[in-house]
Amino acid sequence: MNTKYIYVNTIGCQMNVYDSEQMIKVLKPLGYERTLSLETADLIIVNTCSIRKKAEQKAFSFLGRLPDLKKKKAGLIIGISGCVAQQEGKKILDRFPYVDIILGTHAIGRLPQLVNQIEKERCRIVDIKMSEEMEELECANRFHSGDVSSFVTIMQGCDNFCTYCVVPYVRGRERSRAPENIIQEICGLVASGTKEVTLLGQNVNSYGKKEGLCSFPELLGRVNDIEGLLRIRFTTSHPKDLSDELVYAFKDLEKVCGHFHLPVQCGSNRILKKMNRKYTRESYLERVDKLRQVRPDIAITSDMIVGFPGETRADFEETLDLIKKVEFDGLFAFIYSERPNAPASAFPDQIDLKEKKERLQKLLDLQEGFTKKKNEALVGKSEFVLVEGLSKKQNEPGSEDRLHDFQLTGRTSGNKIVNFVGDDTGVCGNDVFTGRIVNVRIEKAFAHSLWGKALKSDFPCHGLKGDATYAA
Ligand code: 5AD
Ligand code: SF4
Repeated sequence: MNTKYIYVNTIGCQMNVYDSEQMIKVLKPLGYERTLSLETADLIIVNTCSIRKKAEQKAFSFLGRLPDLKKKKAGLIIGISGCVAQQEGKKILDRFPYVDIILGTHAIGRLPQLVNQIEKERCRIVDIKMSEEMEELECANRFHSGDVSSFVTIMQGCDNFCTYCVVPYVRGRERSRAPENIIQEICGLVASGTKEVTLLGQNVNSYGKKEGLCSFPELLGRVNDIEGLLRIRFTTSHPKDLSDELVYAFKDLEKVCGHFHLPVQCGSNRILKKMNRKYTRESYLERVDKLRQVRPDIAITSDMIVGFPGETRADFEETLDLIKKVEFDGLFAFIYSERPNAPASAFPDQIDLKEKKERLQKLLDLQEGFTKKKNEALVGKSEFVLVEGLSKKQNEPGSEDRLHDFQLTGRTSGNKIVNFVGDDTGVCGNDVFTGRIVNVRIEKAFAHSLWGKALKSDFPCHGLKGDATYAA
């Protein structure tokens, strides 16, 4: 079989990163290999996100760059997948006459069949059919990337209908995978070299409830038992469903990393109600307290939306106040963006863009101080770092945290990026460290990363548990 090349441009969240990997895997039996060059590609897919308008525009501007390539290469197939494909469907074919496939969020398993058909018939296809059940991509599970850290989707869709959010419309109702399939996939990944998994879902806290499967903390327990796996992360959690059982998983399961991404979105009860979030600022703060009681070193990050319709200055001040109370390790903050089908698009009192931008800047300035404070608190301490490989900064002479010619990169249990030198002589290299947990003394803190040196007594350092920092 001739090798053909697929180029995937992934926009958006980790779910999309996982889905892109799945697409590459399901196309392997057709002879497709991944390429990072658009020019060599026989198939180009842009895997899209529609959570905010900006992400949607990014997809369309990428598509807009492709007609010349199509003219140069007669057989080139161009596809669009993910949330924008699901949302816009056939309209994309009308707008971009050189696009061949519109692949909805539930159609990845059918991709090989569609590509096959297009290769033979040179037709154009729209597949945005949604299904009630979660499809298992058996064939994808036979191929593993060997990455140190891998994503594993445990559920899809969302039933929460937050009033700003497009997800329930483009990803459908919540569906969970059977635990056996998840475990099987992770075991396969671990056998190929994966040491850390991040379990993915729109709301992992409600995993399995609908189908009567095991609870999410029970699933974590089963993943924790997988031999050879060192660390477990998960995202995203909804504060309304954060049970005590899950809080205690951070203490009882040694591989669960000390980081919790718990999107709060806003600090005003009035706006939280309008967002249909079903918790209050008080209950959120109580959950944060509980997490810190159970695991004092836990890093907490969150998502925030500024400028939701009707958000007054006083509401915004409550958000700033909540940030001060929690002192997050990091925040992803977004300007509210009107989305198709999302009820808030029709709410009165939409906020002026200039005001939204000012609020965003104020929030980011406030958070910057806390991020810095949290990073600086680690200077002088030693942290267990799971090494992912050579730092990208290797190729960026002059970048602020490129302090050495031989830099490796990895993450702490709290999910902080650490660039570090393996050994002053450069003898202990990439191959020795990658995939291992190494004890690193933190020497400097930057805005988005830490810098340190591996403790000589500890390298090469075998088989330490993911949260050894916590246990120490
Ligand atoms: N506008 C701005 N931000 C949004 N998010 C979701 N929908 C919107 C929207 N319409 C943010 C939320 C969510 C994150 C993934 O994206 O903060 O947690
Ligand atoms: Fe969107 Fe809310 Fe579901 Fe998250 S929980 S995906 S914000 S509807």
